Amino acid sequence: MLKNFYIINYGCQMNIYDNEIIISILTKNKYNYVKDIFKADIILINTCSIREKAEITVINKLIYLNSLKKKKKIFIGIIGCMARRIQKFIKIKKRIIDFIVGPDNYRELPNIIKSIEDNRYFINILLSNEETYSNIFPSKIYNINKVTSYVTISRGCDNMCTFCVVPFTRGRERSKSPNVIIKECERLYNYGYKEITLLGQNVDSYLWTPETHIKKNIKDKKKAIDFSNLLEIIAKKFNNIRFRFSTSNPHDMSIRVLKVIKKYNNICKYIHLPVQSGSNRILKLMNRKYSRLEYINLIDNIKNIIPECAISYDIITGFCTETEKDHIDTLNLMKYVKYDFGYMFMYSHREGTYSYNKLKDNVPLIIKKRRLNEIIKLQRKHSYNKLKKYINTVQNVLIEGDSKKDNNYWYGRNSQNTLIVFKKNNESIGEYVNVKILKNTSATLIGEREKKY
Ligand code: 5AD
Ligand code: SF4
Repeated sequence: MLKNFYIINYGCQMNIYDNEIIISILTKNKYNYVKDIFKADIILINTCSIREKAEITVINKLIYLNSLKKKKKIFIGIIGCMARRIQKFIKIKKRIIDFIVGPDNYRELPNIIKSIEDNRYFINILLSNEETYSNIFPSKIYNINKVTSYVTISRGCDNMCTFCVVPFTRGRERSKSPNVIIKECERLYNYGYKEITLLGQNVDSYLWTPETHIKKNIKDKKKAIDFSNLLEIIAKKFNNIRFRFSTSNPHDMSIRVLKVIKKYNNICKYIHLPVQSGSNRILKLMNRKYSRLEYINLIDNIKNIIPECAISYDIITGFCTETEKDHIDTLNLMKYVKYDFGYMFMYSHREGTYSYNKLKDNVPLIIKKRRLNEIIKLQRKHSYNKLKKYINTVQNVLIEGDSKKDNNYWYGRNSQNTLIVFKKNNESIGEYVNVKILKNTSATLIGEREKKY
């Protein structure tokens, strides 16, 4: 019988959480999770489809794994977002892949692995309106960091941004019951975790009723539990844990959520608010459902209600038909907001999306690269200036581990999600300490323990 399985992970935090679910499912069925690929009988590759580069990385990995397969009998499964798309790499599939399982079908993994032992090829990529893995506690053996963890609160996305494959790879939006979320937080608390990030493709659109957790089926939205209610319930209940959440769509973020963030000390003062573009014309083409002005109003509200809040973004540069003027609109929006940090990407034309079917990927690569570099350069300047303002302040830091550059130093984060390093002095991982900030780069604050505390 096949016994040992190993997971190669690509992609976002949702995939990391899903790996924990998969480990729970398989270990309950007598499979053994191994951290050494050479001990594995089964290799699962949890994949990401968001940009072409992510898919190419997976294909290259498969080519490497094929060389292992020639030396030893191993079975390879593709799971995650590429599951529904891998068939276009049909030749590779036949040679290397033994099974393909989509994000809503992980409960089937034990049966699927059994059937491939008989050398049968297997594929299950059906999307579900229901699956939230609610009765499965994610295994904690996957996570090497014992301080911070994730709880997925919703799966799928109904937003249909025209550039995005997620609605096709992860399906319709559904929310997990607040009771299940509370139980998961309780369990993490008992394990000693200090920080939990609530995850969803679009957390602000969380909506749950006892009758249905499928967003599009909820008739009376006023009677449902929304994200602001959920956040308040858990912040109150777990006042020793600090909470983050990701990701927010500006269209769904309410003032109520901002007020809850303000009200509770244990909700981190940090909002990741992908804007994608600063141009109204491009936002419309992207089907983002908010205008530049509405986005700016939301930013103003955040700054008024939570002045200490850090804000970051995702921006896609070189979207179909993007002109120099659109690009300048984006740079100007960045100058207005002065984000603390951000994630910037060149547009990648993804088969199956609306923009792939209806629009032309007509911004030349060289222009995409130049615009991306301008965005990066501007962000570096903003980040540096933002971090500089922390000098001489005292920051409360949750210690997460050894600094990568020097293990005489700890690294941790403050509420605003800024990376802070400081010299060790009898502290331990998972402790909150006050650190006086002495220096900064554009990505890190460097400090020392506050003497008074
Ligand atoms: N091309 C480039 N970036 C993309 N993203 C999503 N789809 C694409 C695409 N086709 C980016 C968005 C999103 C982040 C997770 O990935 O900025 O917010
Ligand atoms: Fe994709 Fe838009 Fe949904 Fe985010 S909100 S996952 S970008 S469709």
